[in-house]
Amino acid sequence: MSCPPNPHTPESTSARNDVYHQKFAVQFDYPVHFARNVFALGDPLLASVFDRLNEQRTHRVAVFLDSGLSEARPAIIDEIKEYFHAHGKTLELASGPTIVPGGEGAKNGWKPIRDILWTAGNIHLDRQSFVLAIGGGAMLDAVGFAASLIHRGVRVVRMPSTVLAQNDAGVGVKTSMDEHGQKNFLGTFAPPFAVVNDLSLLETLTDRDWTGGIAEAFKVAIIKDADFFEFLCDNACELKNRDAAVMETLIRRCAVIHLDHISTAGDPFETGSARPLDFGHWSAHKLETMSDYGVGHGQAVAVGIALDSYYAMHEKLITPEQFERILDGLTKCGLPIYLDYLSRETAGELDILTGLSEFREHLGGRLNVTLPDGLGAKCELHHLEGSIITEAIEYLRARNDK
Ligand SMILES: NC(=O)c1ccc[n+]([C@@H]2O[C@H](COP(=O)([O-])OP(=O)(O)OC[C@H]3O[C@@H](n4cnc5c(N)ncnc54)[C@H](O)[C@@H]3O)[C@@H](O)[C@H]2O)c1
Ligand SMILES: [Zn+2]
Repeated sequence: MSCPPNPHTPESTSARNDVYHQKFAVQFDYPVHFARNVFALGDPLLASVFDRLNEQRTHRVAVFLDSGLSEARPAIIDEIKEYFHAHGKTLELASGPTIVPGGEGAKNGWKPIRDILWTAGNIHLDRQSFVLAIGGGAMLDAVGFAASLIHRGVRVVRMPSTVLAQNDAGVGVKTSMDEHGQKNFLGTFAPPFAVVNDLSLLETLTDRDWTGGIAEAFKVAIIKDADFFEFLCDNACELKNRDAAVMETLIRRCAVIHLDHISTAGDPFETGSARPLDFGHWSAHKLETMSDYGVGHGQAVAVGIALDSYYAMHEKLITPEQFERILDGLTKCGLPIYLDYLSRETAGELDILTGLSEFREHLGGRLNVTLPDGLGAKCELHHLEGSIITEAIEYLRARNDK
């Protein structure tokens, strides 16, 4: 006996080639506060940040703290505990402060990430709870990455504690981890619930981590803001000598340029292959991996800016005088323009050049390298000539040795 036709089989569905086009938009918004001494007991700012949606309940918060910060300022652990105690109506310290390794070690292995996931699991952190991450850019990347996986994303308040984290890494929408031998091979787009830039946290930074973030300021200034570039060059000595007021101006302006780019450039989650904020970064990321992360991100970016600026001068996009002003500004701030890793070769080929193909693979599609087009403006190149890069490295080595 034959079966009656099943109306749900594709053969009997007349509309089987129809398309149902799904479309919706999700709006993101988050405040970026600038403040000082946020853990002073009477200061309401941090408590109000967690309650910014007026949920009028006690918020459970798992706190993670960068080991470099906690070593440099051990009192911060009690300051955090006491702050939560004093604001018990709004805040509940669900766990911590849990120490996460500071520096690239936070994100270039699974152990710290798994530890964060397990801490959250052990305290039964739910999707309405918060993670508060206090630390440098690497630690924020790692905690943000882990938090974006827990229950498909728990809310994160970031408190960046380095210059680079306050003016760049901590204010954007990305998280990451190094894997498969590549920097930032894994990661998610996960905008924070809020960012609190406490400028008093910067006092304990080493000189390396004080100056590192200045490189990211040069990056955005050179391609987006000529006045800001002049400000950086004019104040290079003050910046190097740890003038807190000048640094505050730098951090605010640089952070705002980053925020503005994310919200107005039309590609916040980087689906296209143009990546202007990665000016100077194709070689920087390679230098970091080549040095096994001994070279700081900011220092690598300074060298990457010097290298790509030489290329821009060669292409007559900037003048020799503008190029020299860039090198001069970077060095006066205490940043490098050359590192020996640039000259390292394997079988007669410069190792740094593989950074270009890795960068292309990361972007997808064709290569897009952003270069300055005059100061304060940018353009994209889709091919870089190895011989010009070699020439640039030789020039920078000689200038560095002068
Ligand atoms: N997600 C993004 O959009 C984005 C953007 C730019 C950079 N990044 C990432 O950020 C990382 C670099 O960040 P970074 O420059 O902040 O360096 P970092 O996070 O590696 O920190 C540098 C050192 O400073 C220590 N430290 C942190 N705060 C301190 C304080 N207040 N006092 C004393 N020591 C302190 C850390 O323990 C570490 O040893 C890189 O991994 C980079 O890839 C991410
Ligand atoms: Zn960077």
